[in-house]
Amino acid sequence: MTDRSTLKDHLAQQAVETGLSELLGLIAAACIDIRKVVSGGALAGVLGASGNVNVQDEEQKKLDVISNDILTEQLLASPLVAGVASEEMDNCQPATHDGGKYLVLFDPLDGSSNIDINAPVGTIFSVLAAPEGDITDVAFLQDGRQQLAAGYVLYGGQTMLVLTTGAGVAGFTLSLDGQWLLTHPEIRVTPDTKEFAINMSNQRHWAEGVQKYVAGCLAGAEGHRGKNFNMRWVAAMVADVHRIMMRGGVFLYPWDSREPNKPGKLRLMYEGNPMSFLVEQAGGKSTTDGRNAILDVTPTQLHQRVPVILGSANEIEEIARTCGV
Ligand code: F6P
Repeated sequence: MTDRSTLKDHLAQQAVETGLSELLGLIAAACIDIRKVVSGGALAGVLGASGNVNVQDEEQKKLDVISNDILTEQLLASPLVAGVASEEMDNCQPATHDGGKYLVLFDPLDGSSNIDINAPVGTIFSVLAAPEGDITDVAFLQDGRQQLAAGYVLYGGQTMLVLTTGAGVAGFTLSLDGQWLLTHPEIRVTPDTKEFAINMSNQRHWAEGVQKYVAGCLAGAEGHRGKNFNMRWVAAMVADVHRIMMRGGVFLYPWDSREPNKPGKLRLMYEGNPMSFLVEQAGGKSTTDGRNAILDVTPTQLHQRVPVILGSANEIEEIARTCGV
C-alpha cells in the first residue's frame, strides 16, 4: 500500500476534464507496454534496424516501429481520439469512428541512437483539440499554445512520466506493480544554472551568436561569465530535458549551416512544442533564437523542423543577449 496519489487521482484533483484525463491514462498505459518491449532488448529480438526509413529519410529502428504501432493502435481504438500523427508516419492517421475530441501527436521513441546501447530513450506526446470536419494533416497544424496537454515518458533507471495540462508540471514514477505514482508534484526549472547541453561536434556549423555563448561557458571562471560550466549530452532529448527539469540547465539544438534550408534538427510538432510547453509550465524558457518563443511558431507542415533552445530562464536570457537578439 502507498499513500501516494495515482495519475488518475492527480488529474481528478487538478479538475482536468474527464475525457482528457481518460486519454492521458490511455497514453500512459501504452507507454507501459512500450517500456516492456524496450526492456526485452536482445532477448526479445527487438534491437537493430527495421530495414525502413521514415519520411525524414532516417533509418527506423525496430523499436521505433513497434512503439509507433503500440501508440497508434491503442489510441485509435479509443472513441476519444479523432486522429494521431507521429514522427514515424508520413501523414496523420484519422480514426475510423466519428466524434473523437482529441488529436494526439507523438515521437514514439525519442533518442533512437541510444536503443542499441541500452542508454535512455523516451516517448514524447502532445494533445490538441480536434477541429470540426475531416481530419487531415492540416487539422494538426495548431501552434504550441493550443496544446491541451503534453508530456514525456523516460525509460531510464526508473520509468517516469512528466506531464502538464497547463497548470504546472508533475512527475510520476512507474511502480513495480505497474502504477503511475506521483513522486514529483511540482517540478520547477531552476532559473540559474552552470550546465549546458549541446552536440559540440557541430560547433563549426553554428551561427556566430551560439559560438560566442558556448565559448563563454567553456572559458569558465576566467572568462566573462566568471563561473565554471559543466557540459552534458545524452543524445536523447527526453533525457537531456529531464535533467533540466530536475536540476536546471540549458539544452541547445540550434540552427546550423549543414543544411541551411533546414531550420534545425528537431521537430516542432513532436519535440519542440511538447517540451516547450513543459519547460514554460515549470518556469523555464524556450525559444528558437533567444527572442522568439517556440510555442508561437505557426506550423506549416507536420514534420517541420525548428531550432530549439530551452531551459533555465536566466540562462536563456543570457543566450538571447549573447546572440544579440
Ligand atoms: O530525434 C532527435 C534526437 O534523437 C534527440 O532526441 C536528440 O536530442 C538529438 O536527436 C541528438 O542529436 P545528435 O545525434 O546530433 O546528437
